[in-house]
Amino acid sequence: MGGRIHHKRGLAISKPMHCGTRGGGNLIYLTLTGWGVVMIQSLGGAAALLFASEIDGPVVGIRRHTLIERARHTVAIFPGDVLYAVKCNAHPAILEALYEGGVRHFDTASIAEIRLVRRTLPEAQCHFMHPVKSRAAIAEAYFDHGVRRFVLDHPTELDKILDVCGGGEDLELFVRLAVPGEGAVLSLTGKFGAGMDEAAVLLRRARAVARATGITFHVGSQSLQPQAFVQAIRMAAEVAQRAGGIDHLDVGGGFPARYLGNEPAFETFVEAIVSAVAETGLDCALQCEPGRYLVADGASVFARVEMRRGNALFINDGVYGNLAEMKWVGPQFPVRRWSRGEAPEQGGHAFDLFGPTCDSIDSMPGPHWLPADIAEGDWIEVGMMGAYSNSLATDFNGMGATRTIHLACNAWYNEPAPANESERRIAAAA
Ligand SMILES: Cc1ncc(COP(=O)(O)O)c(C=O)c1O
Repeated sequence: MGGRIHHKRGLAISKPMHCGTRGGGNLIYLTLTGWGVVMIQSLGGAAALLFASEIDGPVVGIRRHTLIERARHTVAIFPGDVLYAVKCNAHPAILEALYEGGVRHFDTASIAEIRLVRRTLPEAQCHFMHPVKSRAAIAEAYFDHGVRRFVLDHPTELDKILDVCGGGEDLELFVRLAVPGEGAVLSLTGKFGAGMDEAAVLLRRARAVARATGITFHVGSQSLQPQAFVQAIRMAAEVAQRAGGIDHLDVGGGFPARYLGNEPAFETFVEAIVSAVAETGLDCALQCEPGRYLVADGASVFARVEMRRGNALFINDGVYGNLAEMKWVGPQFPVRRWSRGEAPEQGGHAFDLFGPTCDSIDSMPGPHWLPADIAEGDWIEVGMMGAYSNSLATDFNGMGATRTIHLACNAWYNEPAPANESERRIAAAA
């Protein structure tokens, strides 16, 4: 395999000192946080790491260069501020990579996220985009961290913010508007957001006291319909008009990652947004809050097969760990097998996956396409796992220990399957 591993025990360095491709070969540079420093200079080296006897739990591999590139592209294309939704993946290496790629604004939804961003990236701007906050959180955000942009969707939250901050003259108050979540794989409707009438009233009140006002919405995560943004922008424009105008329009997150390969491109969403804003005559600054789109390609999760029973693979990561989205989004993620002495390999045999805890919910039904001879001891790399993976992991059943590594190899993607191929696969899996 030819991989060389250098261990320095006792060091805990989370930031890679080098990343990239050198000498035309497959350089993979890995750093194990809280464990030691490991440098591996080939794909074989990565395999050697996975098969090292000390590894007995799942591994998250972060692709820093991919994150930087994605951030650069997003910031270049979107005609306004790009706020990264920290909840999507709050690992400091992810935040640093996005900052290096030009992201300067962060959608923070809790005081812990604000503290993390301030600690990790002192120059970055935090915006408190959760519509319901404690008084203590508002106070710390405002007085200690300089946060001025707050979201609300109810009159009592407006009163609370004004009360805690001692008035609103320097505040930027955004009203969250409830919008339909059609066309999103994960709907975000039904919890937050004011109806159009209530939003107009709130905005008018906010305009009377605040330095600036805005409307924000979220069309749902992994939205597959640019039209959902168009519809939401039309609603926002009507509310803005009734309220006497807004300074900012925040079109939220929801931009899709490339799981199946047939999702509309980010550019298509941006074109739809720009033309809807022009059509409605809205005259205000734009911002967006992507999470998934910015970071999905930026990490893989590696899980080891502990047992095989027919087409069921019992692996050491699952719904309560880093793979919850494999259940809630479905079997859309690219998977490949890492076997001792072999190059990583995709396959054509359909498997169901089961996580390590005792709970039956901990299953990720397939079809997950892997080599037919996959066996105990092999590792499965689940690609496109940068979003809502380690950020959702729990310690349930004592199985929360994940190692983080840094990868310099590129992400890989599912090729869009022709329609008849998808049907064949679904029939084969039935
Ligand atoms: C307010 C808000 N903004 C942005 C996001 C990020 O959404 P996505 O990851 O779908 O882009 C979320 C996700 O829940 C959210 O609640």
